[in-house]
Amino acid sequence: MEKLKIAGGYPLKGTIKVSGAKNSAVALIPATILAESPVTIEGLPDISDVATLKVLLEEIGGTVTFDGDDMVVDPTKMVSMPLPNGKVKKLRASYYLMGAMLGRFNKAVIGLPGGCHLGPRPIDQHIKGFEALGAKVTNEQGAIYLRADELRGARIYLDVVSVGATINIMLAAVKAKGKTVIENAAKEPEIIDVSTLLTNMGAKIKGAGTDVIRIEGVETLNGCRHTIIPDRIEAGTFMLLGAAAGEGVLIDNVIPHHLESLTAKLREMGVPIEVGDEQIFIGKGEKLKAVDVKTLVYPGFPTDLQQPFTSLLTRAEGSSVVTDTIYSARFKHIDELRRMNANIKVEGRSAIINGPVTLQGAKVKASDLRAGAALVIAGLMAEGMTEVTGLEHIDRGYSNLVEKLEGLGATIWREKMTEEEMEQQKSL
Ligand code: EPU
Repeated sequence: MEKLKIAGGYPLKGTIKVSGAKNSAVALIPATILAESPVTIEGLPDISDVATLKVLLEEIGGTVTFDGDDMVVDPTKMVSMPLPNGKVKKLRASYYLMGAMLGRFNKAVIGLPGGCHLGPRPIDQHIKGFEALGAKVTNEQGAIYLRADELRGARIYLDVVSVGATINIMLAAVKAKGKTVIENAAKEPEIIDVSTLLTNMGAKIKGAGTDVIRIEGVETLNGCRHTIIPDRIEAGTFMLLGAAAGEGVLIDNVIPHHLESLTAKLREMGVPIEVGDEQIFIGKGEKLKAVDVKTLVYPGFPTDLQQPFTSLLTRAEGSSVVTDTIYSARFKHIDELRRMNANIKVEGRSAIINGPVTLQGAKVKASDLRAGAALVIAGLMAEGMTEVTGLEHIDRGYSNLVEKLEGLGATIWREKMTEEEMEQQKSL
């Protein structure tokens, strides 16, 4: 096991490149199951969620090879192997295996997914969609069993706007007989990315990126090449660290339109920003103003940037309120930020941040992926040395983070944990 060491307080400067989107990758890879010939996905991030999905596709008979950061999946020999336990529990997005395997084989057995603990994360809307398409769905000893004689298109209204349910229903519906309409669908860019891949494979999908998606089922889907979109959450994390500890940071390989809510909030705080076609420049903000932020579904402010945004707000003058309307318990990073001298209170779904304070280096633990990003930003801002444990969370979603930050001049490295430190971790 390793920990991250960060010598804080050094200004960051230079260019940092964004990788392919994690939350697209984890849906695009299962989507390849639906094809009848090899699919190439270009530009995948080097993260453990991708590595886990590779193994899962191999477990069901797929051949998966890498050429740099391009993945080639040959799905021809795949079978509907039950996956009730094991690696499916390592990531939330293993639920996409349900939609994809149901779509191809009319049956699947998938253990209930893992992922970050952010409060309750039910999958009732996914199941509602599968049932509407004609599947029988049961929960047996912690695994979801899905079976259908035949999938038939249906009209499905999502009671909750859900990224996962929207994509999963698309995966199950592209080969179903007839027409499917998903109403109150989520509009995140990752949904458009998955729809683009499926369309290149031969699917007939209209309206991805709006709240009504129409799918006309087709008999077969074939292989294709697809380039993944850049990771808007990684880009947003870099924008935040540029604003928090930078003296001119250029973020490269971005779709600026995906980050408008964050750009607007940073400008409101007084951060100088220049937006190009595929780049965003974050200048040094001298005196930052407190702002209030409420997380919403896309195109609102993303919940995945709420935690890293909190770290930046410790530098702002005044009182900021951050409210998460998507998850009820996405505040586990706050206790750790307090260890670093932050002045933050949590009341219900809101965190109230009083600033400015100078953060102090400390030993902290990442409880989930974006909490990890928040603590890395805090460590870069802080005086002295910060040690971050719980790196397995950060490695699920940030590709080559240490190398990328070194490129900006950060003093940051990974170090093996001692036996004693590992024991302490277990007892926390
Ligand atoms: N929800 C339900 N029922 C469902 C599905 C969702 O009540 O059947 C609720 C959830 O509990 C949550 C809300 O709806 O309160 C939104 O959940 P959604 O389904 O949209 O989330 P998700 O698809 O499970 C994805 C990302 C998350 C990101 C959310 C929201 C992936 C693999 N994960 O999760 O990313 O926070 O959308 O944008 O795409 C992260 O990257 O750190 C991360 C957690």
